[in-house]
Amino acid sequence: MTPIVAPTPTSRLRRLRRSAALRALAQENTLSVNDLIWPVFVRDGVALREPISSMPGVERLSVDLVVKAAEDAASLGIPAICLFPYTDPSLKTETCEEAWNPDNLANRAIRAIKAAVPEIAVMTDIALDPYNANGHDGLVRDGIILNDETVEALVKMALVQAECGADILGPSDMMDGRIGAMRAALERAGHKDVAILSYAAKYASAFYGPFRDAVGATGALKGDKKTYQMNPANSDEAMRLIARDLAEGADMVMVKPGMPYLDICHRAKSTFGAPTYAYQVSGEYAMIKAAALNGWIDGEKAMLESLMAFRRAGCDGVLTYFAPEVARILRRG
Ligand code: PBG
Repeated sequence: MTPIVAPTPTSRLRRLRRSAALRALAQENTLSVNDLIWPVFVRDGVALREPISSMPGVERLSVDLVVKAAEDAASLGIPAICLFPYTDPSLKTETCEEAWNPDNLANRAIRAIKAAVPEIAVMTDIALDPYNANGHDGLVRDGIILNDETVEALVKMALVQAECGADILGPSDMMDGRIGAMRAALERAGHKDVAILSYAAKYASAFYGPFRDAVGATGALKGDKKTYQMNPANSDEAMRLIARDLAEGADMVMVKPGMPYLDICHRAKSTFGAPTYAYQVSGEYAMIKAAALNGWIDGEKAMLESLMAFRRAGCDGVLTYFAPEVARILRRG
């Protein structure tokens, strides 16, 4: 598109910024509750909520309270909730069997939400890190992250989650070939309508720090994730990953983190036109909250502006810890 702009004064671009009414008419993008996916942290126990110090306002919730949170989300019109378990360290092993235990925390939470609030879409996380004694997303042998063995484990996770009623599976592991393997296994098992939202372009990022506190992986992680998560310097590689995951059967794709990677979001949407999501990750949330709590920025305005940026970049939706807060503001109008 080539903009046609007459010289001033024929054109005065401020004309359409003159009043709220004219600004509303000329607004190009919108943010709606329909664009939100709410990530929540699940812990063991009953009636327990536990604050996460690096994510002010976010708590780990026991399953009964996660159900309550899903009810609140549904009543606010939030279409989907995404579950991340805080696994008891005693259940973490090098072989990660807890990941595909039908009665693990995440799977119990899926079943409980689907029983109580069937209308909300439940999204899951597929990766081994919450269950892995060494904090990695894949199985590790002699310091190497094993790709194909990990994919087999991830397929087991996917099948159990689908069995529990998950609507959207979210593989966040960055192994090669996992989308195709999961899609084939889901078809074979009769779960033909379970959607896959692939974390297709996930970067090895410093912005995941608070999340690792939230799921108890901070101390556990040995080394870094650079042999499977992407180099922040790369953009063409993100397009190859997205093309590959769509070809293998992903229904939706994600770019993660969000704000530092808006160029990738834009390129992904304009290249493929597929349903595209950004994950506004824990570190992005923490930065806005921390600055707001210090009185350095207006937290509410910064939150709304950051979310609108994803829409402007072409995202269909955003995974954001702000989801309920934003939903309340949007409802207030
Ligand atoms: C790991 C996973 C991570 C996040 C979601 N899934 C962290 C990581 O890769 O180390 C991060 C989300 C956030 O920071 O909010 N499977």
